[in-house]
Amino acid sequence: MARFISGLPKAEFHVHLEGTLEAEMKFALAQRNGLSLPYATVEEMKRSYIYHDLPSFLKIYYDGMQVLLTEQDFYDLAYGYLAKAASQNVLYAEMFFDPQEHLKRGVPIEAVIGGITRARADAASTIGIESQLILCFMRDLSAESAMDALDAALPYKDKLIGVGLDSDEKGNPPEKFADHFAKARAAGLHVTMHCDVNQEDTLEHIRTALVDLQAERIDHGGNIVQSPELVALARSRNIPFTVCPTFSGKVMENGQPINALREMLDAGLKVSVNSDDPAYMGSEYITEVLIRAQKDSALTPAELVQIERFAFETAWIPEEQRDGYL
Ligand code: ADE
Ligand code: ZN
Repeated sequence: MARFISGLPKAEFHVHLEGTLEAEMKFALAQRNGLSLPYATVEEMKRSYIYHDLPSFLKIYYDGMQVLLTEQDFYDLAYGYLAKAASQNVLYAEMFFDPQEHLKRGVPIEAVIGGITRARADAASTIGIESQLILCFMRDLSAESAMDALDAALPYKDKLIGVGLDSDEKGNPPEKFADHFAKARAAGLHVTMHCDVNQEDTLEHIRTALVDLQAERIDHGGNIVQSPELVALARSRNIPFTVCPTFSGKVMENGQPINALREMLDAGLKVSVNSDDPAYMGSEYITEVLIRAQKDSALTPAELVQIERFAFETAWIPEEQRDGYL
């Protein structure tokens, strides 16, 4: 089964580029940029990656990305992920990035988008992996900050395929960014949003995303299985869900975990399986995530093929290119 999964052509739709910043690269970039890190070794740094919920994870994740300063840093980060993904037979990836956190440090948007775009082009021509880029609004920062990031990025909109919504969900419902999504959509960008699992008002957030904000995709979204009405809506609209079993695989119901991926598949929802922030999740990239998910969710080979086939079908690329993968 592991060999079958390794060889399966794959597509990835939920990976935060900053979440692929491995400890080894963090040390190398810190050295290149003359920064010191609060850890003596790679092992010590990796041992510090202990979190128990979304806020405690995000603290480690945002601390980690402080070493990213130059266009070359963003190039190295993106090329590193794409090379790793290609080595696992990922043919196509749509990748998130969090510009607000970089703009806060004074990194110009051209360095962020420029470095990632150059890496995408090189990875496509040298190792054959195609990719797209999704700008995420950080929902726990102000609406103004997100609008500033969108405005800064719009001159480079041809380098982006869509916008998303990530970071700490508590008290930050999707409607906080209604204007941002409308503006992005008017600029021709696709729209997705995180509805992380087991969050306060989680079903309400999924409803708002689908009904009021017309999200085309939901990232995570596992709690939907607790609402037959929302499941019916998502099915009728063929909404894809980007499930990340490592982080959001368990939906809590009456104090008991239920297997979100299995329940979503059985409910007839369209799911892809993704790695989210692999550098902070035991360096498990898509193959390792799928191998674990296969065991945890008793995925059959036919279901694995169906997951990847569907993943390619939902790629935000022209139909001819999509057909080439199917
Ligand atoms: N930022 C990076 N990874 C995230 C996740 N899984 N959920 C919300 N925000 C994130
Ligand atoms: Zn995520």
